[in-house]
Amino acid sequence: MSAGPLIARTVPTLRRALDNLRKRNATVALVPTMGALHDGHVSLVRLAKRRAGRVVVSIFVNPTQFAPTEDFGAYPRTWKADIARLAAEDVDIVWHPGVKAMYPEGFATRIVPEGPALAGLEDRFRPHFFGGVATVVGKLFTQCRPDVAIFGEKDFQQLRVVAQMARDLDLGVKVIGSRTVRERDGLAMSSRNVYLSADERQTATMLFRAMKESAGRIRAGEPIAPAMARGAEMIKAAGFALDYFELRHAEMLVPVTSSGDGPLRILVAAKLGTTRLIDNIAV
Ligand code: PAF
Repeated sequence: MSAGPLIARTVPTLRRALDNLRKRNATVALVPTMGALHDGHVSLVRLAKRRAGRVVVSIFVNPTQFAPTEDFGAYPRTWKADIARLAAEDVDIVWHPGVKAMYPEGFATRIVPEGPALAGLEDRFRPHFFGGVATVVGKLFTQCRPDVAIFGEKDFQQLRVVAQMARDLDLGVKVIGSRTVRERDGLAMSSRNVYLSADERQTATMLFRAMKESAGRIRAGEPIAPAMARGAEMIKAAGFALDYFELRHAEMLVPVTSSGDGPLRILVAAKLGTTRLIDNIAV
């Protein structure tokens, strides 16, 4: 283990630290996070280390991607534990700006993504979300100028939005998706899982089971509509309020009508009590 990552809280400090890394010709990977790190984030960091010589992890709970009714205030903040985890992974730099460093007085520019950001999935229920994500990730990319950036596949639409933005704006960064890390019972790891009560935590595993059920039926040749309806029923019967349970083209995120229209992805979002969970699997 090293002495720990260099922690940058201002853009000039970050730039100096990055210049030092680059003087030694290091390639740089960025792992953008909002902290509250779990094993899923650690897997992103490990993939980053395989893809570049040096790793920067950003920790910033981005207010612009939360609606006023959402959990910005309550979002878990576990700074000390996060830094200990990143030190154990030999991360080089932690970029941890305050809200004023990221959005200084007078800030007036936003990135408004289209294409996958308007696929009718998360955007239908969180219309503010991808504008906030694209703007902050656009800033993180220009601040850190990474060669590669790693995003979890758990936020599948976000991964597509960010990859499209990097291409469209010639940001010079290769966006790489990293496999979802799951608990032993299949629940996708998420910083928001801490909101679940013990009972909800048991029920939460139904999302993965329902996706697997529908995927299995589609693979076995069952028509899409009844196969997807079965998964949706399982989720509702378990007590979730379902936002969507959809089969989409894995690249374009457009709806599909035949299992030959692949590659296919099932994506789900549902609320258990006050906790909203999202997940997805390949078919
Ligand atoms: O996925 C997240 O944790 C966030 O949406 C991200 C990409 C760090 C932007 O704030």
